[in-house]
This record gives sequence, C-alpha cells and structure tokens, in this order.
Amino acid sequence: MDKIPVSDLDAAQAAEELTRLADEIAAHDLHYFAKDAPLVSDAEYDALKLRNTAIEARFPELIRENSPSLRVGAQASEQFSPVEHGTPMLSLDNAFSDADARDFDAKVRRFLGLGEIDIAYTAEPKIDGLSASLRYENGILVRGGTRGDGRVGEDVTENLRTLAEIPNRLKGSGWPDVIEVRGEVYLGHEDFAQLNEAAAAAGQKLYANPRNAAAGSLRQIDPKITAQRPLRFFAYAWGLTSSAFAETQSEALLALARWGFVTTPQTQTVSGAEGLLAAYARFEAQRPGLSFDIDGVVYKVDRLDWQQRLGFVSRSPRWAIARKFPAEQARTVLEAIDLQVGRTGAVTPVARLRPVTVGGVVVTNATLHNGDEIARKDVRIGDTVIVQRAGDVIPQVVGPVLSERSANCVAYAFPAVCPCDLATPLVRETTAGGAETVVRRCSGEMACPFQRIEHLIHFVSRRAFDIEGLGEKLLISLFEDGLIREPADIFTLEARDKALLKKLKDREGMGELSAQNLFDAINARRTIALERVIFALGVRHVGEQTGRILARGLGSWRAFEAAMLLLGQGDEAARLELEAMDQIGPTVTLTLGRYFAEAHNREAVQRLAAQLTILDAEKPKTDTAVAGKTVVFTGALERMTRDEAKAQAEALGAKVASSVSKKTDLVVAGPGAGSKLKTATDLGIEVISEDDWLALVAG
Ligand code: IVH
Repeated sequence: MDKIPVSDLDAAQAAEELTRLADEIAAHDLHYFAKDAPLVSDAEYDALKLRNTAIEARFPELIRENSPSLRVGAQASEQFSPVEHGTPMLSLDNAFSDADARDFDAKVRRFLGLGEIDIAYTAEPKIDGLSASLRYENGILVRGGTRGDGRVGEDVTENLRTLAEIPNRLKGSGWPDVIEVRGEVYLGHEDFAQLNEAAAAAGQKLYANPRNAAAGSLRQIDPKITAQRPLRFFAYAWGLTSSAFAETQSEALLALARWGFVTTPQTQTVSGAEGLLAAYARFEAQRPGLSFDIDGVVYKVDRLDWQQRLGFVSRSPRWAIARKFPAEQARTVLEAIDLQVGRTGAVTPVARLRPVTVGGVVVTNATLHNGDEIARKDVRIGDTVIVQRAGDVIPQVVGPVLSERSANCVAYAFPAVCPCDLATPLVRETTAGGAETVVRRCSGEMACPFQRIEHLIHFVSRRAFDIEGLGEKLLISLFEDGLIREPADIFTLEARDKALLKKLKDREGMGELSAQNLFDAINARRTIALERVIFALGVRHVGEQTGRILARGLGSWRAFEAAMLLLGQGDEAARLELEAMDQIGPTVTLTLGRYFAEAHNREAVQRLAAQLTILDAEKPKTDTAVAGKTVVFTGALERMTRDEAKAQAEALGAKVASSVSKKTDLVVAGPGAGSKLKTATDLGIEVISEDDWLALVAG
C-alpha cells in the first residue's frame, strides 16, 4: 500500500496505521534484539518510528497503550546525533557569599529601575546532575537532548524515555503546543551507592560521584542499559514555547507539576535580599538530610515579564544566579609535586596526595597553582596539608598543617627546566608591559612534546573540533607513533595510511568498524564553523568567546587569515582594526600577533585550512531598523533603564556608544539631556525620544 502522507490521514486511517506500525516495529525489535539479526536498515527502522510519532502528534487521542513511542527505545545507534535546542541552554553565574547575593538583588532592581523595594524570587535547590531538554509537541515527547554546548546537544531521546519521571505524554491541559521542558537528570544517594556496589562486584570501574554516574547512565548507546539505571528527573525551567503559560516562575513550576513532572519540593518563593539570605541558610541546613546531591541554591526573579526585560549577558541570564555552597575540606599527606605542561607551555605544579575523601569524592591530585603560591604557602613535600574542592573545580591545596611538619622536610625548590626530554629552561612570563608574572613557561614551544600533545588534545576537544572517538588516549598513542604530529595530520590520516585500519584493529583493540567510525567522525568535521577553527588553534587568550567575536567581526576564513598575516607582520592598522572590536584588546592582539609571526605556526595553520571547508560566520542581525547603527542614549529614560536600553539595542545589532561623535547615527534623548544633545544637533545627527525609540525597535 502506498503511504498516505500523515497530514492527509483521517482518524480511522490513522488508527489503522498506528496498529500496523506497532506490529511492524515490534517485529523488527524482536529480530534486532532477541535474534540479533535486523530485518531492515537503521534508516528504514527510524522512518517507521518517525511516522508513528508524527501520527501520534496529530492524533494524541489515538496513542496506543503499547505504542512503540512509549516503549524503551529499541534503536541502538552507534553514536548520538546532534539536536539543536529551540532556545539555547544557558548556564548560571555564581555567587559565593551573602554580599554576592545582595549584589545580585541590587543589580536586578537597578536594571529594572525599581528602587528600594523587596521583589519576589524563587529559591530552588541547585541539583547536581546533568541538564536535559525535552521537546513536547501537542503534549507528546518527541525529542530529548543533553545540554551539549548549549546550542546543540546530543539526541538521547530513547534514553530519556526510559525515565519514569519523564512523561511520554503530558497530563492535564493548558500546555503550549510546543514546549521544551528543561530540568536535571540525577541519581539519588542510595541508588548511586547500589550502582557502585554492583559495579564493584562485577569488577567494573566505579563512578566518582552521583553526577558522573547519572551522566554515564544517560549517555548509554543502548537505552536498555539506561532503563536499568534508577535515573530521576526534576523539572525547573523551559526553553522554546509556542505560547506563554504562566506569569511567574513559581506558577510555571506548578504548571510543570500538573503536567506530570516532578519539581523540587524544597523550592520556595522569598522576598527581597533578606529572603535570599534566609533561603540559603535553610538549604544549607537541609542539605545533609536530602536524598540527592545539591551544590547550592538557584535564585530566580519570580516575575517572567521581569525576566524577559532583564535578558541575558553572554551565556547567563541576568535574572538568575547560583549561590554555591562553600568548598569541602580534608587533611592528607602531600607525597610529591609533579609539573604539568599545558598546551601553551605554562607549567603547573600538581600535588600528588595520599588518597583522601573530600565531600564524597576520592582525591589524589590537587593543583598548587604556581611556584609563587608554593613559596607563599610554604608547602613542602611530606607535609600534612588541607585539601579542598568545590563543585566542578579542580581540588586545591589550601596550605600545610604546620603543627604536623616533621623536622627533616625542606622548602620546595621550583625546577629550572621542563620535565620533557628536551629539558628546556623554564622562563617566567612577562606581560604586554614587561612585568614578570607568576607563570613559568617551557621555552621549547612546538619542540616540546608536552605542548604539542596538549595542543592536539585541545584541538579535538568538545568545544573545538569535537571529534568523536578521537580521545586523549588514542591521540597520544597516534602521536607517539608519529602518525599525528599536528592538526592537519588528523585529516590526512585515512588517506596516508591505508594499513592503519588494520593496525588500529590489532593494537588499539578497535574493531574494523569502529576504526571506520573514527574516520567518518573525522570527515564529518571537515566542514566546520569559523569560530570553532579559531578557538581550536589554541592561541593563548583566544577562548571560545573571543573566537566567536573574531569570527563575527571578520566574517570569513579568508578575512581572518589576511588579518592575522598582517598582524604577524606588525601591521599597526590591522591591530587597531581588531582592537576596535568589542572585547578585543591588546592582550589578544599581542598573542595572536606572536603566534602568526612564527613561520611554523603559519604553515601548520595553512596545512590545516587546506583540509577544511570553513563556513562563514553568522552575520550580526541586519534585518532590524537599527542594525549596524551607532546609538547614544542621553538624558533620563522613563520606560526602561540605561542598561536595559543598551542590551536591547545590542540585541538588535546596534552598537551603543557613550559619547556623540560624527560616527553616531542616532541619539535617543530623554528629559534633562544636555551637552550630548547639543553636540548631536550641532552635527546634524538624528535625535529621537524614548517613545520613538520603542516604536522603532518594535518594528
Ligand atoms: S535554571 C537559564 N534551576 O545548573 C538558567 N538550573 O549552572 C537555566 N541546575 O545548567 C538553569 N538546578 O544544569 C536552573 N533549579 C535549577 C537548577 C539548575 C541545577 C543546573 C543546570 C544548569 C546549571 C547552571
């Protein structure tokens, strides 16, 4: 029978079709799982499931009790495919003290222009798990993803479906046609302990903490394994919605609960800065008695219209903050100090510790930051030391317990040479102004194998090229074999060494199939965004954010390369042009200039670019009335605060300047505007009122 398009089906046909699909999919599942002999290709199987989901989305009342969409995923994919979130999954800024919390409240009120009033916040436990986004269409769960880089996550729909606390179908009514429900996947303490006990009994590796265990359990290729893990889910936020469904965060949480989600019972609505502080004290007291890990309290402005006005700064909202619990500490013995060489040659001393449990995690290494820190704290090998860790950060050595120091332990002398085979001298880094810093750097640059390997590890990392299957271990072994010496080599690997497949198979214990998967994963990254390439180069001070700014500012690889070549030649005009970009300063242009002044770096970059198709950057917004214009706000604004106006203008692609010049395109003047207004009139620049501005940006 020819398939009728889903949109043309009537209810009777749909019911019939759902029965047929359920039977057919069940038959395939049987062959796939029980007999290990699939009858159809993965793509054909996916198409059946997709059709089933599409019909269910149109006729939710026809969903069968044994629907394939409600069963544990039958599909085991080799790796997860990407899912783009409807709106980005952001992170939260951190607060560490009462003062930080008060400051947060003050900033919120200032931004909104509210004065000295107490505003309502929710105070929610900050669950220590991993976040997930669940897309519901007409009340049916159609897709679920991990956070990933915030914009694109991994498609773990089938795994998420196995969680009892994630409804496949929303209960009640009133949900938007499309909604991305967000929350935290986590494991309770007891379940975590049992999981590790079972792993120990089976001689498997133990998970370090409940969060890692939750992440490991969710990211299973086979959803049947996820289904056996007692993962749980708290809903606390949402992304894209096709319509508004609440006026406050607390109402929204109630709605999520009505639709079948579990929300944290500890959440409270509090008032003003004092309310924030009291809530923190309450959570601190409750923490030991909770059955799951929390690492702080999340404060959110309750009113959603205010959240909307507050908006975001880069990757975190202005309307929320995470107040973190202080670090946990323990005592142990410092057995040795090793030096670690990073990708930029910076040398970090690492404390090797007698294993000790700090806040539920066994710690064996901790950072000592730098030589000056060791000297300042006078930490010596053999000392009993205090170690602390907080959340995700690397454990630190706080200092020695002097009363326990033995007479024969001596002050630590920082080595003068790099621990690499070349033993190149370590030099202290200097700033742009010539001052010495605390950082010691190996002077071997690319000759230093540590730096080369660290560069490569950075290059393939998640936020850079993100090459699936090319992990640290494999990369190091390919490096040691001389098969990969620089980034471009990754892309010529397959062509260069036909015999590699076999070698990988024999030695790395990789099957032929997974070696081919590796090549496929590499090839999948030949086409890549400009910002990722810039970040992946691993130039000092050029992080993800800077990579993005440079990419947007320059637009294309060709423009980037041209600018870098000029910068490397010491071209002043090129430097000034880059520094005119928002957030690009002399530190960035200095390190970029040094990097591109080196012939071996330029050549390595060219060899890499020759292997790639580098996509042009996303253009800044150009379809708004103020895009590309330079705007100055002056005088009093009555319907929004200065910060709000600035944020709004920037979001629409305008640049906001603080003084009026010939470059100004538009001046928004409120009551009391003085000299800026005069300059604008003198220069013949367009001047409008606040109301005109609001009308203009509203389109
Ligand atoms: S709201 C735009 N609420 O903390 C804000 N996050 O540091 C979105 N988290 O990625 C997050 N409990 O994984 C929010 N009650 C809570 C949370 C919470 C835990 C996690 C979440 C997020 C991270 C941000």
